[in-house]
Amino acid sequence: MNAPLPVEVLKQHLIDPEICIRCNTCEETCPVDAITHDSNNYVVDPEICNGCMACVPPCPTGSIDNWRLVVRAEAYSVQDQLGWEELPQEKPLPPDAAAGGEGGQATPAPQAEPGLAQAAAVTPAAPGAAVPPWSAAHPYVNLYTHKTPITATVVGNYRVTGADTESDIHHIVLDFGEQPFPVLEGQSIGILPPGVDAQGRPHHARQYSLASPRDGERAGYNNLSLTVKRVTQDHGGAAAHGVCSNYLCDLTRNDTVQVIGPFGHTFLMPNHPQANLIMICTGAGSAPMRAMTERSRRLIGTADIGKLMLFFGARTERELPYFGPLMKLPRDFIDINLALSREPGQPKRYVQDLIRERAAHVRGLLADRNTCIYVCGLKGMEVGVLDALRDVVVQSGEDWSILHDALRREGRLHFETY
Ligand code: A2P
Repeated sequence: MNAPLPVEVLKQHLIDPEICIRCNTCEETCPVDAITHDSNNYVVDPEICNGCMACVPPCPTGSIDNWRLVVRAEAYSVQDQLGWEELPQEKPLPPDAAAGGEGGQATPAPQAEPGLAQAAAVTPAAPGAAVPPWSAAHPYVNLYTHKTPITATVVGNYRVTGADTESDIHHIVLDFGEQPFPVLEGQSIGILPPGVDAQGRPHHARQYSLASPRDGERAGYNNLSLTVKRVTQDHGGAAAHGVCSNYLCDLTRNDTVQVIGPFGHTFLMPNHPQANLIMICTGAGSAPMRAMTERSRRLIGTADIGKLMLFFGARTERELPYFGPLMKLPRDFIDINLALSREPGQPKRYVQDLIRERAAHVRGLLADRNTCIYVCGLKGMEVGVLDALRDVVVQSGEDWSILHDALRREGRLHFETY
């Protein structure tokens, strides 16, 4: 029999370089290390990707959710994708193309339909939920893209850490005037810094969480705020110049900024009365906690708000952004726990130490299905916080893995770390 073998077709997983904000979430999420990047693009290796979809729900922009039917032997290579400025058009397949793995060759195919990201697609390894809490408001995402950014005007920029400290963290207020830019607490935006990178290409967008609530930094105004730490060192402590953070921290009133987004559809606060928030953050990771706290504060007297418990880590009090305004909040409104790691004369403490110290309160809140947990800040604290939550639960004889699964399934445990 000399019948020609059918041409094998691959549903190739691709990332849209025009929408991707290079936040690294997909690369961190991929359970088989199929995603990689260079200074230009994030790309999917067709030789490794098994179409498990684990990376799809966490992607804040949806740029990850792109697929092309290609002849397997002609799949776009990692090198091809790294050079792209935009996704290629779908090419017509040859008439003898056969979808699926013919001849015993497994062709990876997504387990769920692209675009229908489901909670069930989350890998057990993902520490947080891939769905928002049930009562979250519906977010708008991707209203403005790299090709169609929106211009915002700087209406405020001031430092929120002690002037004599190493941590230069700024509170920056951007106004959108008459242009629509609807947001929710927990969402982020992308900033397009001006200029070009070492290869002469325009800089990619950098992602920042909102520090203000949905109705504006100033209630009733079409503005929002960001909490931006000036980057002067890389993660290893070597000198490094953060392109976008330095640009933002140096802006002055009436400067204009190119913005894309909004992004994020899971790290959202619950909206039902009596929902409790446990907020755990370090440094500039306090932005979404400020947004949620301020949203709740504005609801005092208008609705039955639940309990707010905050664990906030910083080197010293003077390096803790918003220290002054935070300490002025009523204690019966928010339970504030400051973990200071380098305060002279005090023992070094991290947020996870305080979670253990406040075990009874944390346990009480965790026992309430109205409680949602938000973690934002240094990547390193992710494991520490999970361990502390587990210890708190195990101490009372409960099974952490059952509760952890429920928290993820019900959209009640969210991480945003970097
Ligand atoms: P440290 O003094 O050990 O650096 P930063 O100022 O660098 O943004 O960090 C904010 C706070 O987070 C600091 O107090 C820092 O402590 C602390 N921190 C560093 N690593 C961890 C970690 N793995 N878990 C919790 N907190 C951490």
